[in-house]
Amino acid sequence: MPEPSRPSATRACPVAHDHEPQADAPACPFDERATAFDPYTDAYMANPSELVRWSREEQPVFYSPRLGYWVLTRYESIKAVFRDPHTYSPSIALESTEPPTEEALAILKSYGYALNRTLVNEDEPMHMARRRALMAPFTPEHLRQHEPMVRRLVSEAIDGFIDAGEADLFRRLTWHVPFSVALHFLGIDDDEDHEKMHEFAIAHTKNAFGRATPEERIEVAHTVGKFWQLSGEILEKMRRTPEGPGWMRYSIRQQKHHPEVVTDSYLHSMMMAIIVAAHESTSFAAANAIRLLLEHRSVWDEICEDPSLISPAIEECLRHDGPIASWRRRTTRDVVIEGVPIPAGARLLLVVHSANHDARQFSDPDLFDIRRSNVIDQLSFGFGVHQCLGKNIARMEMQIMIGELTRRLPHMQLVPQEFDYVHNLAFRGPQNLHVRWNPAHNPERRDPDVRHWAQAVHLGGPMASAMVRKLRVLAADTLATDPDIVRLRLVAADGSALPRWTPGAHIDIECGDTGLSRQYSLCGDLDNVHEWEVAVQHDAASRGGSAWIHRYATAGAPLRVRGPRNHFHLDEDGRQRLILIAGGIGITPVMAMAQRARATGRDYVLHYSAASRTRAAYADALQALHGERLQLHLSDAGRRCDFAALLAQPRADTHIYACGPQRLLDALQQAVARAGWPADALHVEHFENNAPKLDPAHERAFEVELRTAGLTLHVPADRTVLEVLHAHNVDVQSDCEEGLCGTCEVAVAEGDIEHRDSVLSPAERAKGDRMMSCCSRARTGRLVLDL
Ligand code: HEM
Ligand code: FES
Repeated sequence: MPEPSRPSATRACPVAHDHEPQADAPACPFDERATAFDPYTDAYMANPSELVRWSREEQPVFYSPRLGYWVLTRYESIKAVFRDPHTYSPSIALESTEPPTEEALAILKSYGYALNRTLVNEDEPMHMARRRALMAPFTPEHLRQHEPMVRRLVSEAIDGFIDAGEADLFRRLTWHVPFSVALHFLGIDDDEDHEKMHEFAIAHTKNAFGRATPEERIEVAHTVGKFWQLSGEILEKMRRTPEGPGWMRYSIRQQKHHPEVVTDSYLHSMMMAIIVAAHESTSFAAANAIRLLLEHRSVWDEICEDPSLISPAIEECLRHDGPIASWRRRTTRDVVIEGVPIPAGARLLLVVHSANHDARQFSDPDLFDIRRSNVIDQLSFGFGVHQCLGKNIARMEMQIMIGELTRRLPHMQLVPQEFDYVHNLAFRGPQNLHVRWNPAHNPERRDPDVRHWAQAVHLGGPMASAMVRKLRVLAADTLATDPDIVRLRLVAADGSALPRWTPGAHIDIECGDTGLSRQYSLCGDLDNVHEWEVAVQHDAASRGGSAWIHRYATAGAPLRVRGPRNHFHLDEDGRQRLILIAGGIGITPVMAMAQRARATGRDYVLHYSAASRTRAAYADALQALHGERLQLHLSDAGRRCDFAALLAQPRADTHIYACGPQRLLDALQQAVARAGWPADALHVEHFENNAPKLDPAHERAFEVELRTAGLTLHVPADRTVLEVLHAHNVDVQSDCEEGLCGTCEVAVAEGDIEHRDSVLSPAERAKGDRMMSCCSRARTGRLVLDL
């Protein structure tokens, strides 16, 4: 590809230090650790995020003199770069990391090599015009047709070694299947020599992303040249049968309609680049995932037992140990990132693996947690207009490979081994994955049906509803004072630690096979990672969820639980005062907030309203902990909380948090509005949604524009925004799909939203900058989403 002018790597600090240092000035981005940074090592390939931990924690942008690149390691700044393709051009995504030698250039020329812009390295506006013209075959609707082919390839591959008792899964499965799937998807006959293609792929990776000795460069140049020629031959063959199958023929047909967008140069370059892109990352992703799962045996056993966990497990594998170490961009103007000034024309190395381990985005990031509620935010597929088009084919392949292995070889073990890597900046994964097992214990020897059963493939990001934790009720105590309330202490069924939670977080408890699930706020000790606690009030008016829990959630009983998830966050934004208000069982999230307020030394008062002292759950414990900061308002003693008096004086340094019955919340909202509190002072937790549901007969259709993805989508009267997003490959997670849980929230840049959820407060609604995509719609005109 013609390369943007490339200054030789700066060997000294490229930041001007001509001023006196300021107290808040960023640390010099060029220090010993930056100088020592070397991604072409086994240590980097094995765990890039670990190698740049120092940077992520202390100096999130540094200059690597060895590479001549600015290196970014934090989630937010990397995502911001992906979000803005104009300031951060992708043009260097496939550029050789080291300028080719004269000799290598001459060799490449002799093969007519001219790799140029494809999609991944094309600038706007050409890129989006091309992506729009070519993206239809990647939508879930079109991908379904490939599922039988993927299943067949995976079954045949496993048939080939299942009786052997050992295999190198990289060679026999995770390289071989994605390669054949890629050829099939692209429309190329699978009569290619797989070994030769593997050699081509490695040469391409070394050429674009690697560092080679002068001798290797000669060899790589010859191999890449041959690969370029082969790509041209395949393209010419396809041009003779343009009506045939596959995405590349689709592109050839689209060239007729958009000749200026789908050019000859594009087609030849893409043919070569996609043969690698469509399989190498998937091969490594699958190999990394299988290795990670086998290294966490209890997780492997869990997914063997419950295949619905496979999709969330794969997403967590992509986050924790994804196949992309880093990706590249080039600045088109002077910028400042994390306080570090970077000049126009600078090359940026985005360490995606490090972003995926950033504790600011993923709590306890090194923990492998297949129920991580925000795992969908992982960046292994990139983000924004260039986000991987093939992500759902990759997810399908990984689900089928891992699904078949868990069913047919649940007893396989990882063999202790050294892992080989091709040292390069982008693709990371082992070249070997040896496993063994005792074939006499293969499940299909006892039950031949095992071979034919198949777990459904979920096309898209994992459903939050699949992220079920198996818990056990450690104790279920009915409160002596109020038999309508049962206090449940819950532990992991396998005794493992539970994720930490924050005040205001809730969990969803599945009520057996009733199809019901109910949300309850966590209220126990915030520091206890072995036990969670909830209090469940029997609600005679409910559809049966709380009745089920009172009846069946007894000591020792298993429980299926989702979460924790938090949409009732306690702000730690510097406002020191807290007024915490609870009515009845609404005390549960509020008492966790009081616990945190006490621990962090905030000035707080806890107002707790109940019918009587005996109906005030936890009152004694709260009194003991909070003393005079607890104010009990007992109706039977005539001491109702007077909100008008309590909130008469609005204060800018105060947050008010409340949970309780609707009439209490309504009264509170009125008092707050009447006294003129700032709009964002009151935060309320709801557990039911009375807003209207989708009624196609009365809805209007509208459009949503996706600002980051550069797409405009039609939302018909009978579909939700969420459904339309999923149909177009946009990853937005969902759970309740009725406006209750907040999982499907999307940021809104413009538009008149008709909110139909019960998650957002009136102040949050008034801001108009986010909505729940499973239920809310446009009131008028179109909505512009920050997606
Ligand atoms: C782009 C990762 C599988 C086709 C990308 C990008 C990444 C990526 C990081 C660049 C994103 C950016 O610049 O923002 C992955 C991973 C995969 C995978 C981790 C497997 C787990 C696939 C497959 C295909 C594919 C199977 C095709 C069948 C593409 C295409 C682009 C792309 C066409 C360019 C999109 C554009 O620039 O508009 N991928 N990929 N990928 N990927 Fe993938
Ligand atoms: Fe629960 Fe939308 S999925 S609010």
